[in-house]
Amino acid sequence: MNKKFLFVKTFGCQMNVYDSNRMVGALAVHGYEPTEAPEKADVILLNTCHIREKASEKLFSEIGRLAKVRKKGSLIVVAGCVVQAEGKEILRRSPLIDIAIGPQNYHQLPELIAKYVRDQGRVIQADFPAESKFDNLPMLKTSPANAFLAIQEGCDNFCSYCVVPYTRGCEYSRPSKEILAEAKALVKAGAKEIMLLGQNVNCWHGDKGRDLGDLIRDVAKINGLERIRYTTSYPSKITQNLINTHADTPKLMPYIHLPIQAGSDRILKAMNRQYTVAEYEKIIADFRSVRPDIAISSDFIVGFPGETEEDFEQTLAVVERVQYASSFSFKFSARPGTPASLMKNQIPEEVKTRRLMKLQKLLQSQQRSFNESTVGKELDVLLTECGKMCGQLVGYTPYMQGTVVKAPKSQLGKIMRVKIIGASATALTGKILK
Ligand code: 5AD
Ligand code: SF4
Repeated sequence: MNKKFLFVKTFGCQMNVYDSNRMVGALAVHGYEPTEAPEKADVILLNTCHIREKASEKLFSEIGRLAKVRKKGSLIVVAGCVVQAEGKEILRRSPLIDIAIGPQNYHQLPELIAKYVRDQGRVIQADFPAESKFDNLPMLKTSPANAFLAIQEGCDNFCSYCVVPYTRGCEYSRPSKEILAEAKALVKAGAKEIMLLGQNVNCWHGDKGRDLGDLIRDVAKINGLERIRYTTSYPSKITQNLINTHADTPKLMPYIHLPIQAGSDRILKAMNRQYTVAEYEKIIADFRSVRPDIAISSDFIVGFPGETEEDFEQTLAVVERVQYASSFSFKFSARPGTPASLMKNQIPEEVKTRRLMKLQKLLQSQQRSFNESTVGKELDVLLTECGKMCGQLVGYTPYMQGTVVKAPKSQLGKIMRVKIIGASATALTGKILK
């Protein structure tokens, strides 16, 4: 088989990172080797995100940039949610795209490339096929120390601002048998930590009568696996069993990403989120009662249609009460086809910007305080990547804090005991203990 090269660029969420890895695995079987150099690549693969406006704009400017450096005869493949959302329109918007493929069709990628080469015709594949992509993709042979594993995909919640139910389709949970086989393969391939992924990960229902807590306890039995995480959770679907798993499963890390989105019940209702602020805070209290040190993170949207100053103040107030370890916050972006994009009372851009800056200032100060609270402590750090400076490695504490240490490359992929000696809003510094 001729050696061919594949360049991949991934936009958006962790699910996209996972999908990109699975596509790399699918093409490896056909002789494609990953490369960091787009000018060397036979196939340039861009895995796209459609969640907010800027995400899709970035795609088209990236295509323009890559087209200038690519070698003659190479293919540009665009995958992911922009393809699902735009359909055939995407080929019209950018004549440089050779193949477009939706999130449910990744297993068909090698076949589509062969078809393109045979017929020299641009192709798009973005239906919801009867067979599952998960059953038709090869297992990965190598894995980073912190691996992703999709256990659930799609969403039936239809938050009024969100494109995910349209781009990723309705909820689908993989059976635990399949998940455990993939988890074991990842551990064999080098994973020490597995992040269980789903758009609504705690809605997992792959086995009758069992929930995510039960699945995590099963995954924890895998020898050689040291850490388990999961994301993203939906507040009202958190079960007591999942909360208890944080108390009885040491491999489950003390961290929960639980997006509240807004601190006003009126706005939550308009967003079609199925909980109140009080219910959300009760869930946080329940997590903290079994695991007092648990780190909480969230997503926020400011400037949702109709959001008043008072609504926004309520978001600031809930942040003050909860005390987040880290967070992501965004200006509301009107996505085509969503109910919120059609709402009358859209908020002016400058108001959104002002609110976002105010919220981010508060969140950042909380993140800094959380990081500072770990200075002087000894924590386990999973070293996952090289640092910016020579002789440095970067890893993650149980609370997901990026931590820079002095260490040789040979310690990549290991969990080391580290004394935390410094903290900023974004990272820790530490010293490996002998
Ligand atoms: N505008 C702004 N932020 C959004 N998100 C999802 N859709 C939108 C939108 N239309 C944010 C939510 C979600 C995160 C992944 O992205 O906060 O939790
Ligand atoms: Fe989007 Fe809401 Fe589903 Fe999350 S729960 S993916 S925000 S529709």
